[in-house]
Amino acid sequence: MVKVAILGYGTVGSGVYEVLRKNAKSIKRKAGQDIDIKYIVDVREFPDHPESNLFIKDFNQVLEDDEVSIVVEVIGGIKPAYDFTKSALSAGKSVVTSNKELVATCGTELLNLALEKNVNYMFEASVGGGIPIIRPLHQCLAANEVTEIFGILNGTTNYILTKMIKEHQNFDDALSDAQAKGYAERNPAADVDGIDACRKITILSSLAFGKAVDANKVPTRGIRDVTLQDVKYAQKLGCVVKLIGHTKKEGERVFCEVSPMLVPNENPLSNVEDVFNAITVKGDSIGEVIFYGKGAGKLPTASAVVADIIDTSMHLHQNKFGAWKAVEGDFSIPEDEIASRVFVVVSSEDRENEKFKVRTLFGEDTDIIDNSSNETDFAFITGNMPLREVKEKLAAIGKVVKWMRVLENE
Ligand code: HSE
Repeated sequence: MVKVAILGYGTVGSGVYEVLRKNAKSIKRKAGQDIDIKYIVDVREFPDHPESNLFIKDFNQVLEDDEVSIVVEVIGGIKPAYDFTKSALSAGKSVVTSNKELVATCGTELLNLALEKNVNYMFEASVGGGIPIIRPLHQCLAANEVTEIFGILNGTTNYILTKMIKEHQNFDDALSDAQAKGYAERNPAADVDGIDACRKITILSSLAFGKAVDANKVPTRGIRDVTLQDVKYAQKLGCVVKLIGHTKKEGERVFCEVSPMLVPNENPLSNVEDVFNAITVKGDSIGEVIFYGKGAGKLPTASAVVADIIDTSMHLHQNKFGAWKAVEGDFSIPEDEIASRVFVVVSSEDRENEKFKVRTLFGEDTDIIDNSSNETDFAFITGNMPLREVKEKLAAIGKVVKWMRVLENE
């Protein structure tokens, strides 16, 4: 029998408890032995819980108990999750987590510690909630040189953008709707400013390319500035606006970003709606594969955590996946070098003259869409060129209200 301790009895922790209890028989069949919960560590009291005897407050009790071989860290955040994880791995216990902030920030150190101690630090639930993506990258796609990953990695912002696209709600109303449904937090910054998606693409990039990406250096833009007018322009140009996490490798260098982008209607990601996530992985042998499903929620996330517990129970003293490495020097590709088409919104008192300039700079056949509700604004999409070139040309144009890249999928 394998004994586990669950750290944190919030949404994910209670989901893990529920799945381990509900599916105990089939989990035993798959793991080859019983997986039992010995402790649930939480500072709060749960006197009415049917197994209130499992609850303890002191993590040291877990650490000192040799019977516990798997620690399930579902507290979230850095403190005290980092200290607990480090102590557990140092004590020779494997750790399973859904904590994307910790994996994105301290994953390099913790994975290398797990490798050194010959235990596992598993984090399937940290990206895409219930969608299998970490293990497929590690195992099923292992034969490939992965070249590029892009996806909708945040359910809350995808819900907000879907409301803007389908129901023509403005950003503030769509955000209130997402908050009322319990998708967005009262402080929605981590979701709407792209921070959550940044952590997820950082993890995917580090894993796929083996080099630790620094989340703080990833260009990250959220969706606060996306307007209903942008959504309408995009629709007229045959696209939808989506928040995209994107990473690709060229030679030894890696590009990583989070940004709202125009996704052409022919790209399958354009049809991913509401709180769903989807991740496209490109490999040199597989071509393209897409992972789609529920990227958040109690039981979908618990599903991924429990799968990691089962896998870990079968590899208790054998490090299964290795670790990505810290790399000396800057290996990032500057955003300005990335080539794509770019959607640009311009405002000018002399709209016709400005449109003439756009056609002179970007070509006679440039698609230009007027804003029908005023006489000053218009939008267009450039040809495929490095962002630096787009910016240089735009310097010659009047007031550029905004630009967003188009998601290219050659
Ligand atoms: N806030 C996240 C989302 C939860 O909306 O996708 C899952 O990481």
